[in-house]
Amino acid sequence: MSHSRAPRNRTIDLRDDEHLRLRKAVEFSSSLLIAGDSQKLVCGDAIKILSSTSGAQFDLLFADPPYNLTKKFGSEKFSSRSSDDYEQWLDAWLKLCVPLLKSTASLYICGDWRSSSAIQRVGSKYFKLQNRITWEREKGRGAKQNWKNASEDIWFFTMSDEFTFNLDAVKQRRRVVAPYRENGKPKDWDESANGNFRDTHPSNIWTDLTVPFWSMPENTDHPTQKPEKLLAKVILASSNPGDLILDPFAGSGTTAVVAKKLERNFVAIEADEEYCLLAAKRLEMAETSGSIQGFEDGVFWERNSKIADRKNRV
Ligand SMILES: C[S@@+](CC[C@H](N)C(=O)[O-])C[C@H]1O[C@@H](n2cnc3c(N)ncnc32)[C@H](O)[C@@H]1O
Repeated sequence: MSHSRAPRNRTIDLRDDEHLRLRKAVEFSSSLLIAGDSQKLVCGDAIKILSSTSGAQFDLLFADPPYNLTKKFGSEKFSSRSSDDYEQWLDAWLKLCVPLLKSTASLYICGDWRSSSAIQRVGSKYFKLQNRITWEREKGRGAKQNWKNASEDIWFFTMSDEFTFNLDAVKQRRRVVAPYRENGKPKDWDESANGNFRDTHPSNIWTDLTVPFWSMPENTDHPTQKPEKLLAKVILASSNPGDLILDPFAGSGTTAVVAKKLERNFVAIEADEEYCLLAAKRLEMAETSGSIQGFEDGVFWERNSKIADRKNRV
């Protein structure tokens, strides 16, 4: 998987000499005994592993399963199927998650427009539906006879009415267009030499994400890698430091990496060994760099906000 790349291309590769070392960071067992402080990358089939997992319970589940499309993931291939069959497949692993989650746990499940309604139906069988987040995925491909697909959904469920939601941790910093004053003082915004800013309530439409691409330090060759910033929002809102997070379809390890950067624990399962090794490499890199693009000094910035804005400390 070692490639020759253009000099400014920052895509994370596996060098041939790294495989042996990184393999040691991956578990290959199909029955898991987890502790509350687990930080595990597990290689194998999520359905088999989830059905023989015991130990501590999870505070948060983030699942980014294959969408209902025929797609190759490394050595694995997911085949598109009828909506009913896709629903059955979702049901098969989701029901195994139920006993592994705390009664206060939250769940986020990703889908595209085709698989989204199935996720809503199956998820609502087991969990309390709280919201659907739609995020702008600006890397979509144009279509000749259809609207270009440029969005995806993330369904937000909880186990019960009691759950963590750290609103202040996920507010979005925006420039104030019409700064309103009361008695000469800024009303709900902050004034600074670089402009006027307000921390706004985050909505269920996320337009501030960039799908990883070659010049981003988090980029890998995984075909459907999620942005670290997306995971940062989910993890900060719906867990606390030290909590335990489950990702049954870990891919290049984005959930595990962001969990580590934000001081959470995790169990990340992935069927393809090369992706597990990539995830292990990213986790190793996270030991020396905890930065998350687009989330700086505890602030979520709008996409493409100017460096000068970001340097501004309100
Ligand atoms: C949509 S991708 C996840 C991408 C990930 N969120 C990231 O940021 O890299 C889905 C992943 O699930 C893996 N997968 C598919 N079926 C699986 C199974 N039964 N058990 C474990 N992993 C599986 C695929 O190999 C693929 O890497």
